[in-house]
Amino acid sequence: MMKTTKKRAVPLHEDPIRHIVWKGDRLDVIDQRLLPRRVRYVSCRTAKEVAKATTDMVLRGAPLIGCAAAFGMALAARSGRLKDVLSAEPLLRRARPTAVNLMHALDLMLAVAESGPKETLARRMADAAEKYCRDDIAYNARMAELGAALLKPGSRVITHCNAGALATAGIGTAVGMIRAGYLAGKVAHVYPCETRPYLQGSRLTLWELMQAGIPATLITDNMAAHLMKTVKIDAVIVGSDRIAANADVCNKIGTYGLAILAKHHAVPFYVVAPSTTVDFSTASGDLIPIEERSAREVVEVFGVPIAPKGAKARHFAFDVTPHELVTAIVTEKGVVSPADGQTLRKVVESEC
Ligand code: MRU
Repeated sequence: MMKTTKKRAVPLHEDPIRHIVWKGDRLDVIDQRLLPRRVRYVSCRTAKEVAKATTDMVLRGAPLIGCAAAFGMALAARSGRLKDVLSAEPLLRRARPTAVNLMHALDLMLAVAESGPKETLARRMADAAEKYCRDDIAYNARMAELGAALLKPGSRVITHCNAGALATAGIGTAVGMIRAGYLAGKVAHVYPCETRPYLQGSRLTLWELMQAGIPATLITDNMAAHLMKTVKIDAVIVGSDRIAANADVCNKIGTYGLAILAKHHAVPFYVVAPSTTVDFSTASGDLIPIEERSAREVVEVFGVPIAPKGAKARHFAFDVTPHELVTAIVTEKGVVSPADGQTLRKVVESEC
């Protein structure tokens, strides 16, 4: 069992991780595939390079994929030609299928591209991409505040995958709520699931929590039920890649199982996601496209085979949690509870 040493909790505004840096003529991103062993930046100078970095998981996490795509469009606009922006858009849109933040960012950037003269195209697109990231930072901060208020003091929480700073432009969604909760005395201890097969929980979330000075203990995915029964868990807190109109929640594979376990053990199950993750055009979770990645990522770990040669495997990257299993969805617009389609629409379409 792995434990963090106790150290000062890092205030929310003091984020040490600069994982996405806009340089005007390129986008530098930390290669998340190498974390936590190495911190190396990859420079993307074209929309095609941003799309490739997204597909290859150099960068990942729904809001971050949206931010990177916005900068990808800004890079395409540097030529000053609308046709370059229009041809970059489908490349970026195909980069990954599930996180709707990608489509949201591209729709917005297309509208900006078409809203003014070619002389100002490059400037308008760069400004819009930077604003897109600033908005995400503000959404993260607001969700952290709203979410922390839902927790009871001294909570022990489970989180899954990485819904932290590395997955957004700000302090993260689920991890943002956890960090704000910790600073407010609401969170006492965090158990990140390792998140097979890509290990975002052990490689990324635990890394972030340790840097933030939050007590955390790594568990493998199959330990969650035992922990809920024995250690007692007060909340499960996760992010999302797409929330359907009926409030069904798509997130990293394994989230659905956690929600079922939480229901059985009467543990509140919270989803933290900005309005850019909500997709009113998809009626229910069954209609969300689920990315299926290479089976190699299941039968190998860091290139080392862990199954017999020739073994068949499937790699579903996401699953869908029916809204009935969700206690509340925390958005920057407010808390959606009960988590149903009507309440979701009322909160997300509200003005504040
Ligand atoms: O495949 P990934 O690593 O991009 O999946 C990320 C997740 O599933 C996160 O939980 C989700 O994007 C929410 S991030 C704030």
